[in-house]
Amino acid sequence: MSISYDSMLLNLKDLEAYLSQVFKSKVKVEYFGDLKGKEVKISDIKEYGYGVPLLITFNVEGERRQVVMSSMKIDKGFGHDYRSDRAANLILAYDTWNKLPKHAKVFDIGTFTKRGLLSLGDAEEFFIIGEKVEGKEYIHDLERIYNDGKLINLDKERAKALSIYLTEIHSVKKNDPELYIRKIRDTVGHGECIFGLADSYPYSTTFLKDNELEEIEKMCIEHRWRLKKKVHRLSQVHGDFHPWNVIFKEGINFTLLDRSRGEFGEPADDVAAMSINYIFFSLRKYGELRGEFQELYDIFINTYIEKTQDLELLEALPLFYTFRCLVIASPIWYPTITNEVRRKIFNFAHNILIEKRFQPSKVNDYLK
Ligand SMILES: Nc1ncnc2c1ncn2[C@@H]1O[C@H](COP(=O)(O)OP(=O)(O)OP(=O)(O)O)[C@@H](O)[C@H]1O
Ligand SMILES: [Mg+2]
Repeated sequence: MSISYDSMLLNLKDLEAYLSQVFKSKVKVEYFGDLKGKEVKISDIKEYGYGVPLLITFNVEGERRQVVMSSMKIDKGFGHDYRSDRAANLILAYDTWNKLPKHAKVFDIGTFTKRGLLSLGDAEEFFIIGEKVEGKEYIHDLERIYNDGKLINLDKERAKALSIYLTEIHSVKKNDPELYIRKIRDTVGHGECIFGLADSYPYSTTFLKDNELEEIEKMCIEHRWRLKKKVHRLSQVHGDFHPWNVIFKEGINFTLLDRSRGEFGEPADDVAAMSINYIFFSLRKYGELRGEFQELYDIFINTYIEKTQDLELLEALPLFYTFRCLVIASPIWYPTITNEVRRKIFNFAHNILIEKRFQPSKVNDYLK
């Protein structure tokens, strides 16, 4: 049984080096292949396909040992679309298998790299290192407007610039039905989204009617079944386009933070994430959408619809506005707003879910 040491980037020497690190002694690999005896060249693992359990027979300190390398199949659907999904799956396996009696032991977790195999067995919490962005979060503009009660020209230009930016990024489409269906599913059922937010509310509050969250969830499920057929709408998105994640430098020059929940999704997600804030600030100030915030809202929404001519957006907005309503009405995220404001936010969510097709001119009716 010959093992070929080819010059491919990833080769058996890498496997031996990695296993020697894990088993803290020099390892000599005897066999690498599937469980049925078909040998696999480690450099071919990508072609062979992740997701197939691979047997490794090796000698270490004069002892013959066998271990199984498990990876996740790169496939669509079932929430395995992103590398992060597959990594999350394996991290959870590594964190839990050894705790269950009679369960196969797991010795290490690792990753394939361009230069070999990297052990992550000692890894704890993950972090990313990004650039420090200079400037001020857009939220500060909205707070100034809230206090001053009037707009400066730059405020109108910035609302327009943010809207135009969305029309540009959303113009990049992708043909991947599974990803669009996933986005709609996650918006309803993900822990960071509607179901998760609903679970973060206390069972009884003074501003919610009995079973109101359950009713809202049921209407969201109806919207999900209607929306998920619109797979043609899959677009490049930011995914958390709110005023804390937009940092303005000077004029209309801004940098974004915190892209979330995937590269592609439903454009209404970004449109709702920002425009709900004009309604929210006005609601806290006037009890309705009016004045300077009405003007910003109209600039933002009208610019978007004029530029994209995307009237179908109005059918997607109720679900994504509801997601954002559950954030801004949350006593956890916004402990200081009045219950009257929370009540109006839930009226808004209710009424737009019932209406199915959002009409920007009816915002104040929806708040009643
Ligand atoms: N790279 C950066 N440059 C400048 N400021 C930053 C940077 N990253 C974060 N901040 C500041 O920290 C704040 C919170 O950071 P971050 O957005 O990562 O937190 P968060 O909890 O994820 O918020 P959310 O998910 O609601 O956007 C930002 O609103 C911004 O003020
Ligand atoms: Mg953020």
